[in-house]
Amino acid sequence: MTVGGEQLLFVRQLVQRKTAIVLGEDKGYLVDSRLSSLARDLGHADATTMLDHLRKKPDLALEQRVLEAMTTNETLWFRDRAPFEALRQHVLPELARSGAGSRQLRIWSAACSSGQEIYSIAVLLEEHFADRFAGWKIDLAGTDFSVEMVKRASEGLYSTLEVNRGLPAASLVRHFDREGANWRLKPSIRSRARFWRMNLVEPWAPMPAWDIVLLRNVLIYFDIPTKEKVLRAASRQMAPGGYLLLGGAETAVGICPELVPEKIGDATFYRLEGREQ
Ligand SMILES: C[S@@+](CC[C@H](N)C(=O)[O-])C[C@H]1O[C@@H](n2cnc3c(N)ncnc32)[C@H](O)[C@@H]1O
Repeated sequence: MTVGGEQLLFVRQLVQRKTAIVLGEDKGYLVDSRLSSLARDLGHADATTMLDHLRKKPDLALEQRVLEAMTTNETLWFRDRAPFEALRQHVLPELARSGAGSRQLRIWSAACSSGQEIYSIAVLLEEHFADRFAGWKIDLAGTDFSVEMVKRASEGLYSTLEVNRGLPAASLVRHFDREGANWRLKPSIRSRARFWRMNLVEPWAPMPAWDIVLLRNVLIYFDIPTKEKVLRAASRQMAPGGYLLLGGAETAVGICPELVPEKIGDATFYRLEGREQ
């Protein structure tokens, strides 16, 4: 049953106000498919009834669950391959040279979903850079709007289907332990990353400056003014000489001129105009 009328308008406005995600007027079927199992779990007849209830009786906990159910958490290991190849071949060796004085490396996956993106980097560091970054302070961080995703990322527990999406078999064997039908990342990798909840469209709490910011496959859901706001905020969090990576369908060109695209290998990174090296 498609959600329509006042309930659809209500959920579209709620989602845009709280996450900046723009849901089209024609997305009644999507709202229904994303919310109907939550509605049933909570004892409502269907998504429309649950939304009607929330509309009439504000409930922050239910609101957060509705918002989380409406986000798209699609992710996989080494997503799009080329950026990770560029990181391995060019960006991380360059940061190993330029950071040799401070011996610190900071990488942030903003909108990390269930953690595969930042853990892919942890695997890359372990498999290819253990010697080069030995003794460095390495800070790998993931943040997401969704409490559920942050919890999942922190747990580092993945289904067979999930580990089969992009993770080489040799890395699975080396870095995971079998746990029933699932796979858990070994503490050697899991302990390298920290996760917390952060809404990109609310004021950002103070954070360190990052050598690499991964802001991938989240701007696509925002309107242009929100993309601009988030890109400007991200650019302010980049360390001198830092790198920003967006998703394959995203660009900063024409939106945030201080971010200059630079082709590295087969991937496009963004660097700050007039950056210090
Ligand atoms: C499609 S996933 C992308 C995951 C990963 N970056 C990747 O490229 O594979 C989008 C993520 O953005 C998160 N998200 C959506 N709106 C957000 C917001 N306003 N602030 C922070 N995260 C948000 C969602 O919860 C979801 O986990």
